[in-house]
Amino acid sequence: GRVIFSGIQPTGILHLGNYLGAISNWVKLQNEALPNDEILFTIVGWHALTLPQNPQQLSASRRDMLATLLAFGIDPKRSVVFYQEDNLCHVELSWILSCITPLGQLRRMTTWKSRLAAKRNANDESEVDESMLNAGLFTYPVLQAADILAYKATHVPVGEDQTQHVELTRDIADAFNRTFDPEKKFFPLPDVLITPNRRVRSLKDPSSKMSKSSPDSSSRIMLTDTFSQIDKKIRGAVTDSIQGITYDPVNRPGTSNLLSILSACEGVDVEEVARRYEGKGHGALKKDASEALEGLLKVPRAEFERLRLDQTYLNAVAKEGAAKAKERSQTTMERVRTMIGLY
Ligand code: TYM
Repeated sequence: GRVIFSGIQPTGILHLGNYLGAISNWVKLQNEALPNDEILFTIVGWHALTLPQNPQQLSASRRDMLATLLAFGIDPKRSVVFYQEDNLCHVELSWILSCITPLGQLRRMTTWKSRLAAKRNANDESEVDESMLNAGLFTYPVLQAADILAYKATHVPVGEDQTQHVELTRDIADAFNRTFDPEKKFFPLPDVLITPNRRVRSLKDPSSKMSKSSPDSSSRIMLTDTFSQIDKKIRGAVTDSIQGITYDPVNRPGTSNLLSILSACEGVDVEEVARRYEGKGHGALKKDASEALEGLLKVPRAEFERLRLDQTYLNAVAKEGAAKAKERSQTTMERVRTMIGLY
């Protein structure tokens, strides 16, 4: 059977990009899984620490993220859902793996390079070097590799922006196998399961992805948005002045983003959706997109608002998830300790 594993940062309230790019795919994989597939989803608090966090806020955000996963249909009976920081094996394995990971490989990570670039811009000088960034940002992908390998995951569903980290995980797994396993196959090399066509773009600047960090809150749809907020944001979405509707992500990113959101809500191919609007205008497309979004979010939103108040239930789910996660990583970790000579 497959071992499907993925993670998400505790960013608090979810936006549409997270949902369409990640969680919708998780729910689909879970619901279509075969009986002998194992599925694990984790909320990665340690990864969140690479950026400055307010402890109280972080504590609330991780609970909200758990409530979100459950509200959208992650079922703790079918999937192991847990907080990363509840299984100490991740940091232990991360340390071990960091000792076989060349610095050069980490420097090539585009996530690291963009952090460096952001620092440079913020300081408006080209001489800023990596000494200003924390070490956790740099070793972040090794912890991610440890998350994945602690369960010997075979499939990792992520968005485009995370594929390089999974490729690094394969390299690290291979390095471990070659160094410590005479049969060279201890860790399976995990495959990426990429969510097709789901790079959700900012509603205000369709050249960039929809993200939590954009200062303009009208650039993203949040899980907690009411219908009138959704409608207002979609109406205000940047499009173009070209007549008619066509799907053309390169030349018409704003229009194409709305089409792809609508297609994702309906579960219909985006080209097919585009054909329905050929003779129509942006007004019709926007109206249908807001209504489809409301249809998509209405039930999960209510479920989220209910669950986030039920701390007892959330704690019970987290506790059970942690126990299962520990149990599943235990044998692997004992083997790893033996293989490296620390057992
Ligand atoms: P994170 O929390 O940034 O994002 C979670 C998932 O959402 C996807 N995503 C998007 N997809 C499409 N369009 C968008 N606008 C968009 N924004 C986010 C991401 O690709 C991701 O799949 N490092 C990871 C978390 C992690 C992890 C792991 C993932 C830690 N350990 C092990 C897989 C396996 C991260 O920061 O994702």
